[in-house]
Amino acid sequence: SRADKMNLVIQKIRSFPDFPSKGILFRDVCPILKDPKALTAVIDLFEEHVRQTYTQVDLIVGIDARGFLFGPLLAQRLGIGLALIRKKGKLPGPTVSVAYSLEYGKAEAEMQVDAVEPGQKVLLIDDLLATGGTLYAACELLRKRQAEVLGCLVLVQLTDLDGAQRLKPVSVFSLTEY
Ligand code: PRP
Ligand code: ADE
Repeated sequence: SRADKMNLVIQKIRSFPDFPSKGILFRDVCPILKDPKALTAVIDLFEEHVRQTYTQVDLIVGIDARGFLFGPLLAQRLGIGLALIRKKGKLPGPTVSVAYSLEYGKAEAEMQVDAVEPGQKVLLIDDLLATGGTLYAACELLRKRQAEVLGCLVLVQLTDLDGAQRLKPVSVFSLTEY
């Protein structure tokens, strides 16, 4: 059942205090990857949500680096393609980029201009939503390329940091909240 799958996923998320810096409680999804049943449950839950919520999705957009672990599996399950948003300097050819800050630092996100076509309806995927800085930056890149962002999918949402508020009117679907 849906509840069993949720439990399987929640059970496999570990917490590490003071990583990568003092005061940060790091939520680690690596144990999910070690357990094929838990990984399948993640994709099942995302697939069910997407099929129930959207009539048309053209593309999944995965966020560097932990969005890359789940994005391709979901895209394949839905029978659609995947685009990558990477940390700056990793992608060849013409790109768009934007600087942003996240819970524990600063970075710059980049996407190839031909990764998405104008008017495509896309869903973003990452492991975790904290301040929303990363997913907001990703939304900006997609807007620059005239894609339509339908929503964001994450395994974990840290509700105290108000990331979902920051992303509005783009919606956030999370499997678990802390
Ligand atoms: C982490 C996480 C999200 C982001 C969330 O990535 O995977 O992408 O931070 O934080 P925010 O909501 O405050 O922006 P990180 O930049 O650490 O990169 P990694 O996936 O390469 O470890
Ligand atoms: N990215 C931003 N904040 C995080 C946290 N607390 N745990 C894991 N990844 C994160």
